[in-house]
Amino acid sequence: MTEKYDAVDVIRTKRDRGTLSGEQIDWVIDAYTRGVVAEEQMSSLAMAVFLNGMTRDEITRWTTAMIKTGERLGFESLTRDGQQIPTSDKHSTGGVGDKITLPLAPLVAVFGVAVPQLSGRGLGHTGGTLDKLESIPGWQASLTNEQVMAQLSAVGAVICAAGPGLAPADKKLYALRDVTSTVDCIPLIASSIMSKKIAEGTGALVLDVKVGSGAFMKRLDDARDLARTMVDLGTDAGVNTVALLTDMSTPLGLTAGNALEVRESVEVLAGGGPADVVELTVALAVDMLAAAGRPVDAADVQAALPDGRAMDRWRAMIAAQGGNPDADLPWAVETQDVVADADGVLTRLDALDVGVAAWRLGAGRARKEDPVQAGAGIVMHAKPGDRVHAGQALLTLHTDTPASFDRALDALDGAWTIAPAGSEFTPAPLIIDRVV
Ligand code: URA
Repeated sequence: MTEKYDAVDVIRTKRDRGTLSGEQIDWVIDAYTRGVVAEEQMSSLAMAVFLNGMTRDEITRWTTAMIKTGERLGFESLTRDGQQIPTSDKHSTGGVGDKITLPLAPLVAVFGVAVPQLSGRGLGHTGGTLDKLESIPGWQASLTNEQVMAQLSAVGAVICAAGPGLAPADKKLYALRDVTSTVDCIPLIASSIMSKKIAEGTGALVLDVKVGSGAFMKRLDDARDLARTMVDLGTDAGVNTVALLTDMSTPLGLTAGNALEVRESVEVLAGGGPADVVELTVALAVDMLAAAGRPVDAADVQAALPDGRAMDRWRAMIAAQGGNPDADLPWAVETQDVVADADGVLTRLDALDVGVAAWRLGAGRARKEDPVQAGAGIVMHAKPGDRVHAGQALLTLHTDTPASFDRALDALDGAWTIAPAGSEFTPAPLIIDRVV
């Protein structure tokens, strides 16, 4: 087949700060997926995009081109009593201790909105939803499209692995970006996330765009730009999309690690759990329901946690994928406490440092083919704002590989600040802003 363009010309255009034409973008994404554009050429183009950016039109075209490389799912045939069931999904840009999807999907399903959550695995210091759920004995991440539809119809929520047919260009490109230091680039992140979410076929989408040390976006302005770009991409594609900007300077909840986070999610589903996890779960559920055209008050949403309705959906959702919701979850073989070095108020506990330490303990993977330890991770005994005493345990490290304690402790060097008792402390708001 004669190729329409030459990859070198496309690279040169972006290298020289030019604007790629729609046809150039369509070609380069398709030709890369077919293996005609070589990995080294795409890596050079990704770096040129990283350095010189893309216009909104280029990002839209890049996203559409990635969607076109694979299948596009749809939930129009999902009906109950002759009425179409609305669908709503949530995507987080990734953070430490971010287990929100676990209680959120069954909670939203309680109110008659189906949640098709096609997820990925964790890479680096942020945990992956599938890795967390795989710590539940028997639970299976891979479902066929028919199984997804059947589960959405019967249970109203499914969390499973995105199949290989969904935006295959992004799968290839994301793996390449990961090894060429081109991940943290707004046009490439926005098009990567939104190509998968638009192809997934959800009717509504709520984005949780994290900002802070543990997030891709360390600065609020960048997070806002990413949120704006993704909301516009979703809206233009006919998906009712909103974004929350939320704090990721400190971990969410009191656990980071796979089985540890499932336990905490089950506490939330039982009406307990840490206040920040409950607050964000309820806020995202309210937005997901409103975006799907089924608005429910926050108080009514929250009531479905202690009264057992969300827990019933969770149990059905886990069982439908072969998991045993009553099974004991794995614990790591060894633990080690990390103690406070002073009396006072904990004013900072850094998300990135905790995430890197949990990763080094075995909760995360460095390469996508690496296994993860189900029981590894960190339990936090205090959060910013709490009084602490010298010698009390601040953190407990969990691992099956005790040789990793030293490297985890290195990551935690300087991870917290304890100010004298009575010092001023203003907690950062968890939900910083909303972008529509
Ligand atoms: N998650 C994705 O799916 N893609 C990115 O580029 C970054 C985070």
